[in-house]
Amino acid sequence: MTDVQLVELTVNGERHDLAIPPRRTLADVLRHDLGLTGTHLGCEHGICGACTVLVDGAPARACLLFAAQVENAAIRTVESLAGPDGELSDLQRCFGEHHGLQCGFCTPGFLMLAEGYLAEEPDASRDEIREVVASNLCRCTGYETIVDAVDDCASRRRAALQAALDTVPATAATRPDSGSTT
Ligand code: FES
Ligand code: FES
Repeated sequence: MTDVQLVELTVNGERHDLAIPPRRTLADVLRHDLGLTGTHLGCEHGICGACTVLVDGAPARACLLFAAQVENAAIRTVESLAGPDGELSDLQRCFGEHHGLQCGFCTPGFLMLAEGYLAEEPDASRDEIREVVASNLCRCTGYETIVDAVDDCASRRRAALQAALDTVPATAATRPDSGSTT
């Protein structure tokens, strides 16, 4: 029986071929094999959420997954949020503006939790955001500022979408190739 297995992972859009022990966790692979240390490890048994990443768009605890389990999935870590030039994402900026972090240890996990959640539930209410945020642990902030940050980001994204829709020319709906008979 071999103690090393070949695993192909796609992380932040990049493919990696790894020879790793079958029971190596996704968190250890991200941090130690790929150098993506933005994914933090706290409890290492699924409680704190510091290790949250996105697996096919859904938030998941990287400490509870073997890397081999997610071979065919698209994995995103907190490093994927900022632009190529290092510009912070809207969600990251909201955390900064609302002081949604203090020591910052929990922050990557909250960011990925919120990123996955808002993609799935863009119309989430403040109460729903509060409930989702409660699944990760923060020992510093008291959570209120984290809820503020996620709620504000959701509102801004909705406003940006509405503004984009408002710029669609009204005549677009009446063009001959739009299917309109007018
Ligand atoms: S380190 Fe994974 S849930 Fe705490
Ligand atoms: S900001 Fe310190 S644990 Fe959350």
